[in-house]
Amino acid sequence: MVTLMMRLTGRRLQPPDCVLALSLMVLILWEIPGAWALDNGLAMTPTMGWLHWERFMCNTDCTEEPDSCISENLFMQMADLMDSDGWKEVGYEYLCIDDCWMAPQRDSKGRLQADPKRFPSGIRHLSNYVHSKGLKLGIYADVGKKTCAGYPGSLGHYDIDAETFADWGVDLLKFDGCHCDTLEQLADGYKHMSLSLNKTGRSIVYSCEWPLYMWPFKKPNYTEIRQYCNHWRNFGDIYDSWQSVKSILDWTSSNQRTVVSAAGPGGWNDPDMLVIGNFGLSWDQQITQMALWAIMAAPLFMSNDLRHISLQAKTLLQNKDVIAINQDPLGKQGYLLRKEDNIEVWERPLSELAWAVAVVNLQEIGGPRSYTISLASLGQGVACNPACHITELLPVKTKLGFYEWTSFVKTRINPTGTVLLQLKISQTTF
Ligand code: GLA
Repeated sequence: MVTLMMRLTGRRLQPPDCVLALSLMVLILWEIPGAWALDNGLAMTPTMGWLHWERFMCNTDCTEEPDSCISENLFMQMADLMDSDGWKEVGYEYLCIDDCWMAPQRDSKGRLQADPKRFPSGIRHLSNYVHSKGLKLGIYADVGKKTCAGYPGSLGHYDIDAETFADWGVDLLKFDGCHCDTLEQLADGYKHMSLSLNKTGRSIVYSCEWPLYMWPFKKPNYTEIRQYCNHWRNFGDIYDSWQSVKSILDWTSSNQRTVVSAAGPGGWNDPDMLVIGNFGLSWDQQITQMALWAIMAAPLFMSNDLRHISLQAKTLLQNKDVIAINQDPLGKQGYLLRKEDNIEVWERPLSELAWAVAVVNLQEIGGPRSYTISLASLGQGVACNPACHITELLPVKTKLGFYEWTSFVKTRINPTGTVLLQLKISQTTF
């Protein structure tokens, strides 16, 4: 810090200067979003990709279910589709393997190895294939003695596992937190693996579940987690149900004072996978997940079957306007602004003084409900000051027009659905 200040001031610091220097430093760091993020230059916007867990789980039976078991075929098929069906173009880049890819034992040199029946060509081959499609490959391991599904854990093997992943050309590691004996082991393990990945010299996004496994015992220190991880799961696993999506939103809003400020370029809260395109969510609920994952600056990992997905779900997942909100370069996570009469209003500040606003109708009886918002109440009073252009992005893109600060915008929201708005400042008033 002193060296940097000498560079800035050109002379050695004296005691009063130190105070000044410190304040200047605090100011500088305050201004740099994500100043304390893991310094690997990755995940400057939330990571986007595909992850097998929610849809394919730990299906290892390739005899009975050759099309949906965890095998190299599944990932090669998904890679082909991510490339050919427009997913890569809109930003879904990381094709990620979750639990159950491993053989039950390490090899003779102590390295993790893929199940030889299901991944006969090995992970190196798979990563070459994925890279040849212009995509990146993610893999899964666990900080403790075993993975959650009981495969070999990385405890005591952090360096060798990081080196193995780097040798294979892996680009992301999802590091789970099952089977740890103590909180200290959990924390040391997560930090150790972060440093081991760094030492390999390969750019590997580090996706953690550290806070999720801490919460039952102790409030996590997000400043510290952010220094080691590119994103982190806070809450339990997503299921293909509205109940599950709602519980994640509830957890996030109830803990927003703790988690929102932790997010920024380089480090994000991870509310788990997008389950859009599966079986459990109605159309309106799928819209709610997409809109709110954008508001929360969440990593966007789809877990669905890209071989069998409706055009409607595909169009929603590939909605460029909503993805642009999720990927907004300012990198500030949104929050719940108010909740009244089963309506939630969430907002997120965007670059160029724009704002995204999501209005969710949580009432599960009756039809669409109208809700009117005073524009002066949005964006800490400045979202539409002196005036703004408002566009509805979801459910249907519609230009709502020009609004003055003192005016109101009226929305109409389906049960369990969301209306997502974008507000852009206009300097002109008339
Ligand atoms: C945990 C994680 C899930 C998934 C499974 C795999 O439950 O939270 O996301 O990785 O383990 O066993």
